[in-house]
Parts: sequence; structure tokens; C-alpha cells
Amino acid sequence: MIITDPQHAVRDLRQGKVVAIPTETVYGLAANAENDAAVQCIFALKKRPLNHPLIVHVAKNWDLSRFALDLPPYLPLLIEHFWPGPLTFVLKRNPKTVSDWVTGNQDTVAIRCPAHDLAQALLSDLNAPLVAPSANPFGKLSPTTAAHVQEGFAGMDFTILDGGRCAIGIESTIISALDPKGYTILREGIIHKKALDALLPEALCGAKASPKVSGQLKSHYQPHKKLYTFSNLNHLKAFQAACKEKLYIISFSPMVLDKRHDYHRLSPTVQGTAFELYECLRLADQSQAALILIELPPLEQAWMAIHDRLRKASAGDSLEKLALPLQG
Ligand code: TXA
Ligand code: MG
Repeated sequence: MIITDPQHAVRDLRQGKVVAIPTETVYGLAANAENDAAVQCIFALKKRPLNHPLIVHVAKNWDLSRFALDLPPYLPLLIEHFWPGPLTFVLKRNPKTVSDWVTGNQDTVAIRCPAHDLAQALLSDLNAPLVAPSANPFGKLSPTTAAHVQEGFAGMDFTILDGGRCAIGIESTIISALDPKGYTILREGIIHKKALDALLPEALCGAKASPKVSGQLKSHYQPHKKLYTFSNLNHLKAFQAACKEKLYIISFSPMVLDKRHDYHRLSPTVQGTAFELYECLRLADQSQAALILIELPPLEQAWMAIHDRLRKASAGDSLEKLALPLQG
């Protein structure tokens, strides 16, 4: 059921129920992080493997030492600059307060402070942290509206708090902050390495072995239809010539296409593309087209999160790899 009253959501959460909540990135499937039975329901609903840990969501200005130990010296600066916002820190877990269910038995915990008024209001009223994985069945596209959540869990009975369309549209950047000498990016997001390094010029990026993150599986964030990426318009032309089926083509470059195909032109900015990406892939999935073809953005630092999501949505398959003969 879709609701708009945050008090209703707080009542459900207090009773140990699961509630889908809006955040600035994507909708999350939330439960009280201090209630193991409620946390277990999330794994069951999502059909998520139990060893994939959950992010603990906290309200502004909560004392992180309640959940994590050995906080690195650069943490306050990053928090001051980016929180509330789409940046998640992996820290050494405080085993007294964070349960094995949340961390998948690891000795680390991921923590984030969402920049959405409703999410903040829930956390403050509940006065307890919330675990909230993206509110999609495991491996599928993340939802950016309440209606997407409902579509993904048809027939299942939990409350969905409608907070409008997510302003960012892709999941938070996750960094490992276990090493006091510097962070490591575990999942790319809208906050990219350059923006982090601008604050911490001496940070040692990528110096450490990273813990396992489910978002690092080769295929993830997948539409139902087969999706290929492409970079070179000549490969697209060759594919169109060889394929008789209706296609859903998504590109940054302007193009004139045969009318039988569907076409969407993406925003030229990273923010604009992130905002519309999952919505666009959903529409492509629901269309009559047989296949989805999507152009890769420039190979620049700021675009890495989009590259990452497209690599996973395509399971690494591209028109270039098909090596069709080019024309002309
Ligand atoms: O933007 C977001 O982060 C959204 C919204 C709802 O907050 N949440 C989200 O959660 O994307 P989820 O569960 O779909 O993705 C969280 C990722 C997973 O890949 C998980 O493996 C990783 O975070 N993760 C969680 N705890 C971790 C830990 N202790 N160490 C390493 N990775 C961790
Ligand atoms: Mg997810």
C-alpha cells in the first residue's frame, strides 16, 4: 500500500514491519536495524543472499561511535562536506550494537545518512537506525518512485512511503574507510573520486584490498531484456543492418533512426543521466522492442558510476564484442 503519512511508516517500523522509504538516491526497503526479525524479513522479501550486508542509515548528527569503532581521521571532514548525502562509509563494526544479520557476519559495517526530509524525519522519530537496501528484488533495477517499488513486489503486503521521485536516481557511492591513511571506492556513485580527493588531497585511493560488495557482481541492476552497450556509432549501424527486430536505442549522440525502433536521448550531464537512467531502462524493458542498445558516456571520472551501472546491466556485453562487419 502506498501512503504519504510518515507517522504511519514510523508505527509500522516500531512494530517490526518492513517499510519502503524514499531517499535521495533510490527507494530503500527499510527495517529497524536493532530488530533482527525485521532485518531477516528484508532478506526474505528481496530474495537476497544472507551474506550480502545491509547499509545502516542514520540521522544527521548522530554519534557514529555508537555503531563503529576506530573511526579514521579523515571521516569528520567527509561527513561535514557530504552528509546528509549519497556517500556510504564502510567502517569497523561495533559488535555490541550492530548485529550479524546486518553485516552478514563481517566485522565491518556500512553507514550512510540520507538527504531526504522524510527519511530523516523517520530516523529522528524512531530514534533507531534503519537498514535499507534498494527496494528491488535481488539483482533487478533499483526503484526511483513508489510505483516502481510496488511493481517490483506485486502482491506483497508492506507499506510504501511515497516521497516523490528520487532526486539523484542511482545508489550512493560506497567507500571503505577502514584504513586510517586513506579511503578506497567500493561502489561508484554521483560523488566521485575527484570530488573526494579535492577535499583529501593526500588520500591513498585503491591502496587497500576491498571487502566484497554485491554491487561488484558482474551482472546486477539488470533489466529483463538483453542489453548491449556501444561506443561507436558504426557498430550500431552494422547491428541495425544485421538485425531485423525492433530495438530500443538509448544514446547521448543525436541520431536519426528507422521509425520501427524506439529511441530515447539521454541528458548530456551526469546528474541528468543518473536521474533518468533506471526509469529509462524500465520503459525500455516494458516496450515491444526485442533488445536494448545503450551508448556509453565519455570515459571520464565523473561518468564512472554510469559506466559501472551499464556494465552490470549489460553483463559486460557490447556491440563491439559482437564484431559485426562494418559497412562502407
Ligand atoms: O543509495 C543507497 O546506498 C541505497 C539507498 C536505499 O540508501 N541503498 C543501497 O543498498 O544501495 P543495497 O543493499 O542495495 O546496496 C548496498 C551495498 C551492497 O552491495 C552491499 O554488499 C554493500 O553495500 N555493503 C553493505 N555493507 C557492507 C560492508 N560492511 N562492507 C562492504 N560492503 C557493504
Ligand atoms: Mg541494491
